[in-house]
Parts: sequence; C-alpha cells; structure tokens
Amino acid sequence: MSSVHVSTKINGDPTEYVCEADETLLDVLRNRLGLTGAKEGCGTGDCGACAVDVDGGLRLACQETIGALEGTFVTTIEGLSKDRSHPVQQAFIAANVPQCGYCIPGVVMAASVLLRANRNPSEADIKDAIPNLCRCGIYPRLIDAVQNAARIARGDAPAPEPGQDAPTPAQSEP
Ligand code: FES
Repeated sequence: MSSVHVSTKINGDPTEYVCEADETLLDVLRNRLGLTGAKEGCGTGDCGACAVDVDGGLRLACQETIGALEGTFVTTIEGLSKDRSHPVQQAFIAANVPQCGYCIPGVVMAASVLLRANRNPSEADIKDAIPNLCRCGIYPRLIDAVQNAARIARGDAPAPEPGQDAPTPAQSEP
C-alpha cells in the first residue's frame, strides 16, 4: 500500500499526515493524535461508537480511510466543546444518560449532527438519526435528553446550572 499526504482540519486545527492510504480515520484519531473519545466497538460500521462529524455529517471513523478525507473538517467529541457546554452534553449530564460511557461520545456526536439539521426532532427522528448501540441500555433516557438538548439549543429551556444535575440513581433511592 502506498503512502499518501493528507491535509485536514481536526477540531479546528490544521493537520497534515503522511500515512497509508487505507489507514482508518479512527486509527489516526486515536493512535496518531491521541484523541481517544471516538471508540472502537465493532470495527465493522455497526455500533456507532466511533461516530464523528465530517463536514457537518455523521461518519463512522472505523469505516473512513484517511486518504479519502483530504480537505475535510473533522470534529470529534474533544472538539465539540472544551467544557461540556454543548446543549447535548448539558442535557445528557442533567439526565444521567451515560452509564459506562463507552458509547457516549458517538451518541453525543450523532445527536449534535441531528440537532444542527433538525431543531425540533421527533422520537422517530431521533431513533432514525441515532441508531448507536449501547449495552448499558440508555435508550429510555435518550429520547427525552435529546429533545431537551433541542430545547436548550433553541433557547426554549435554560441550560442546567453547574451542580444542579439530576440526582444519580443511588441518590434518588429512598
Ligand atoms: Fe465503528 Fe462500531 S467501531 S461503527
């Protein structure tokens, strides 16, 4: 396999590589750049753990070869916000959506791409746009959290105050 020279912007930073043309975006992010938010779950394009934003669309980093990404803008969970202040992150934290957290970066990226295109998604829209697999079972909280993120993004709901997150399950037990 021949080496290629690739220029992209990753999380706003111009980045240049000489790499194998068939090297995956996920390998570049995790192994070359130390951006380990995107996870490898299945490696076959089925789970969504590796999802990132490429030019405003959701892409599975395990299925993208870096050689095909010349001139693109890539945003990972590390670039979505510096302080977890994106509406999706705020809503997910407030609703205790994450459990083990392994799949969450991909879910957050899928939700952020959805909200950019659809500011008032229905349950069906969310299920269609976020097919990510989660073995912890975040699904009961996911729909409400994404719709709350949409309200925050539209300015129809206040962002949760720091320290006013929803109680953890252990705290809410009698
Ligand atoms: Fe890419 Fe599962 S690791 S879709």
